[in-house]
Amino acid sequence: MTEQRVRAQRHLVPHFTPGAAWRSDSLPIFERADGCYLYDTEGNEWLDGLAGLFCVNIGHGRTDLAEVAADQMGRLAYATNWGNAHPPSIEAASMIADLAPGDLSEVFFVSSGSEAVESALKFARNYHLSRGDEGRYKVIARNWAYHGTTLGALAVTGIPRLRDPFLPMLWDGVRHVPNTRQCTSPPGTPVADLSCVRAIEEAILAEGPETVAVVIAEPVQNGGGALVPPDGYWQELRRICDRHGVLLVADEVICSFGRFGYWFASERMGVVPDMITFAKGVTSAYQPLGGVAIRGELVEAVHDSPMGAYVHGSTFGGHPVATAVAVANMSAMRDEGLMEHVLANEAGMAESLAKLADAHPCVKEVRGTGFFYAIDLCADRESGRDLSPTQEAGLRGGVLGGFVREQRMTIRPDDRGYTGLAISPPLIADGTVVEDLVDRTDRVLERTVAWLAENA
Ligand SMILES: Cc1ncc(COP(=O)(O)O)c(C=O)c1O
Repeated sequence: MTEQRVRAQRHLVPHFTPGAAWRSDSLPIFERADGCYLYDTEGNEWLDGLAGLFCVNIGHGRTDLAEVAADQMGRLAYATNWGNAHPPSIEAASMIADLAPGDLSEVFFVSSGSEAVESALKFARNYHLSRGDEGRYKVIARNWAYHGTTLGALAVTGIPRLRDPFLPMLWDGVRHVPNTRQCTSPPGTPVADLSCVRAIEEAILAEGPETVAVVIAEPVQNGGGALVPPDGYWQELRRICDRHGVLLVADEVICSFGRFGYWFASERMGVVPDMITFAKGVTSAYQPLGGVAIRGELVEAVHDSPMGAYVHGSTFGGHPVATAVAVANMSAMRDEGLMEHVLANEAGMAESLAKLADAHPCVKEVRGTGFFYAIDLCADRESGRDLSPTQEAGLRGGVLGGFVREQRMTIRPDDRGYTGLAISPPLIADGTVVEDLVDRTDRVLERTVAWLAENA
């Protein structure tokens, strides 16, 4: 066991990792990365099939971004956006406003996705208050959606395993409604009549529209496994929110900055929400940065109201180094044609992954679009047999993770509303990388089929 692994196990508290897994002799320690590949301290090469955590969109090892960070540190390492401003945050906000759909012309920066979500919720409350609409504070969110883990964001997250231990600490203003995969309407139902659409308006009406501040949803929901909505779904959300004076927030912490071939997935959905939360890909994870893009007139309404201010802020929001890196990252993504690359290659990736489904009876369904997919597992597709409770517990409890690790790659074994694998490579992945990703995933599924037979 390497000395670094021992020290990690003794001193470093892991995120969301069971103790037994952290204590494993095979805990990888990554020390460098390049393009779509990571290298551990034992000299092994790993394929990064998850772009870190859906965030290293431009790929690893970009020394040009490192140089921008070093230069900014030398020039102005720190200043706030509290009563003053600085060039990198001005430049980053202007670029994001230009790239955002419709009139989302104002940007508030924070340092993570959870903070971005909380900032959107607080802005909504602030906006309603500034108009004298004092009763509005409730939030409508969807089952199995992940919106972050700090207590405010966790209240909105719809994943029981993450929420339940902390329930006494969570505020009770959130109502969760079915996501698009939980629709019970028969095929051919007009989108406005789908049960998962009706459920949103029914929740608003049940609570009393005058108490509801916000509807929040991801354009393509990650929790539940790459849930692509039916055509027209977002237009219906927009209509419902407008009808009841509720603000619509697209949580694009994963979906923005190219994951679906657009700067913002709302553009792909053809909708202009009132706010878009972002993080991860805005800097391709070369710096921690998150934020909210907000419709200009809403910000003006707050500033011009007796309240006069958005009563929210943080020390590192809009940090000069993080925003300078964001500008460099967005410029490079634009100049190198990453949006075009995703749009040109998404069909190929979808096709290769669909072939895996044909080849392995343990694949129930492959879902997704852009550079973002989920492989949903079952015991046997032909006979329609689902995983038994024991099989599900085994796969979720480390078996699937072990198979992925054997292949030295970082796609994600997932247990949020389905049992399967989440795949989301860096956006620079070309045909060769995609082939490598599909081959390794093929071997994971082969191992899974054999394990299911042994554990029937
Ligand atoms: C949709 C969405 N919202 C919010 C978050 C929280 O972001 P962070 O982990 O940066 O706090 C995530 C994280 O994965 C996310 O996927």
